[in-house]
Amino acid sequence: MARHPDPVHVRAPGKINVYLGVGPRHDDGYHALATVFQAVSLYEDVRAHPSAGFSLEVSGDVDVTDVPTDDRNLAMRAARMLAHAAGVNDGVHLEIRKGVPVAGGMGGGSADAAAALVACDALWGTELGPRGLHELAVRLGADVPFALHGGTAVGTGRGDVLTPALARGRFDWVLVLSAQGLSTPAVYGRLDRMRAHGDALADDPLDMLDVPVALLQALRAGDAQELAPVMMNDLEAAAVIDRPDLELALADGVRMGALTSIVSGSGPTIALLCAGPDAARAVQEELRATGRDALHVHGPVAGAQILST
Ligand code: C5P
Repeated sequence: MARHPDPVHVRAPGKINVYLGVGPRHDDGYHALATVFQAVSLYEDVRAHPSAGFSLEVSGDVDVTDVPTDDRNLAMRAARMLAHAAGVNDGVHLEIRKGVPVAGGMGGGSADAAAALVACDALWGTELGPRGLHELAVRLGADVPFALHGGTAVGTGRGDVLTPALARGRFDWVLVLSAQGLSTPAVYGRLDRMRAHGDALADDPLDMLDVPVALLQALRAGDAQELAPVMMNDLEAAAVIDRPDLELALADGVRMGALTSIVSGSGPTIALLCAGPDAARAVQEELRATGRDALHVHGPVAGAQILST
């Protein structure tokens, strides 16, 4: 194994679920999904420094006060899991700089774990290869494999069985960030309860959990106008139920010129699909004028990548 004496810097993207169909809950607590991920230009930067033990520090452009720095942190778990799988006796100091909102429904923690796998793999010179890293990613969490691969992809199973989807050109998104995060398991649990009570706001699980062909065609054509009407998120009703601010942001985004608005993953971040960069900048400015935290990003972008060693 060729070990690196210098720190390794890896960048991994956050994601939006362009489509998120949620099926029934399985005995292991996970739900069957039919989802389409798109990696967007909002990043987590992870630097892996050589160290005898395992430690972690977190800073960021977003509020990081709720991010654990011990073994509850998914990036720390990723580093330990890789060391164990590869028979490495060294440790690592992980320096994480977060650009993706914490508990925002954009897979920021999963991106940290994916970046930690790639960075520690390079630092330690393990010979696990892409397939080995992918297998560890699957064990770490449902969204971690996608953060490794990036681009645009269909996710089935728990969201971890990935098939790359063709997407031409770029899609412009405006994200509306929320000061208060949402717990992913809590949002899934709420959807289950809403469905069990026959709540009219929650759609029943589809018999055929599948991504609509029209959505894949719109991505392939790079056509935001075609994509907008077929976007869907089964978790949305459960995410917005006690959050009138989110309902308002979903409506305001469209009123201000977005093609459509959707909750990203389990929320509370809202993703507004716009016709192009100019339209996105205009929507972002108008949202900021109402005091909201709005960011213009684009997708698809690459998955976890080494920037420098
Ligand atoms: O895999 P990950 O740790 O990211 O998932 C967080 C939580 O989200 C799970 O514990 C589960 O409650 C919920 N989840 C789910 N079905 C999925 C993915 C996630 O119920 N397919």
